[in-house]
Amino acid sequence: MKVEMQTKKRILSGVQPTGDLHIGNWLGAINNWVTLQEQYETFLCVVDLHAITTAYDPKELSKNTLSTAALYVACGIDPKECSIFVQSQISAHSELCWILNCMTPINWMERMIQFKEKSIQQGNNVSIGLFDYPILMAADILLYDADFVPVGEDQKQHLELARDIAQQRINAKFSKNKNILKIPQPIIMKNGSKIMSLIDGSKKMSKSDPNEGSSINLLDTPEIITKKIKRAKSDSYIGIEFNNPERAESRNLLMIYSILSGKEISQCENEFSETGWGTFKKLITEQVIESLSPIQEKYKVLINDPHQLNNILIEGKERADDLAKKTLKRVKSKLGFFEMGK
Ligand code: TRP
Repeated sequence: MKVEMQTKKRILSGVQPTGDLHIGNWLGAINNWVTLQEQYETFLCVVDLHAITTAYDPKELSKNTLSTAALYVACGIDPKECSIFVQSQISAHSELCWILNCMTPINWMERMIQFKEKSIQQGNNVSIGLFDYPILMAADILLYDADFVPVGEDQKQHLELARDIAQQRINAKFSKNKNILKIPQPIIMKNGSKIMSLIDGSKKMSKSDPNEGSSINLLDTPEIITKKIKRAKSDSYIGIEFNNPERAESRNLLMIYSILSGKEISQCENEFSETGWGTFKKLITEQVIESLSPIQEKYKVLINDPHQLNNILIEGKERADDLAKKTLKRVKSKLGFFEMGK
């Protein structure tokens, strides 16, 4: 008797290897992948080609790439179940990106909010790569026929763009009946998808923030964590609330506490309704240190075992390369490229 295997739907996501990952990356992205990995066939990319769209240090790139991959695993991604790979190892990303570049109208790109925001920060030094960032991201996603892409709210527009390029500029134009590219759906992570800066609750926690006190990095020592939370912005209210629009910092820290402790927001609100900032900061400091400690321990073991890490990335690359090659071949053939005779 033939046993029908139910195939899992596929997800693809990634984080840039720019410097230390912080709890925003963890709670907003990696931690969600951890919950999704059982249910989905999971591809997780370290997007190092994206990391060079703004100024970077070549001495750090490879180290950061490895450390980001190690952190995926340390945070609970199972490398036996998931394919973890490095974007620049698979040349199909750049190649599909070029093809999609040629199919995408420039005015679609001029609407990209993240580009506008980042280019303001960069002043005169904005590269074509930064402008092209969303198309490279589209290539990342479309190469793997991803059914779903878990992303934070701020990446929704990029995912829309990937869908539009695939549907309107590739499928509709180059294929009459069968889709060439699969149209991906977003999974917008609600909890933790936006962890804010510790020193300004209206700004997202970001690796590019020059103020180190704005984020808690996954590899921060207990002393540093204590110092950062002590200096985090507070306000003059008593009690920690979630829904008061004037209290962005209180909301943010309560959200972090709730996710890390596994307690519902409402339960935390009750617990801290009369707690002062000093006491709350002590409690959240303990919680953050306790939650990061197993990640840091696992990270230490992995980063000191380059052989194991390398094997994880080789296996991930092989699985990813297989799929990526097939998609690229399909696209090139439908778009009319010359094919070598056998
Ligand atoms: N732009 C994403 C971010 O900043 C990172 C990213 C690159 C990504 N390629 C991707 C996310 C593909 C999901 C899928 O968060």
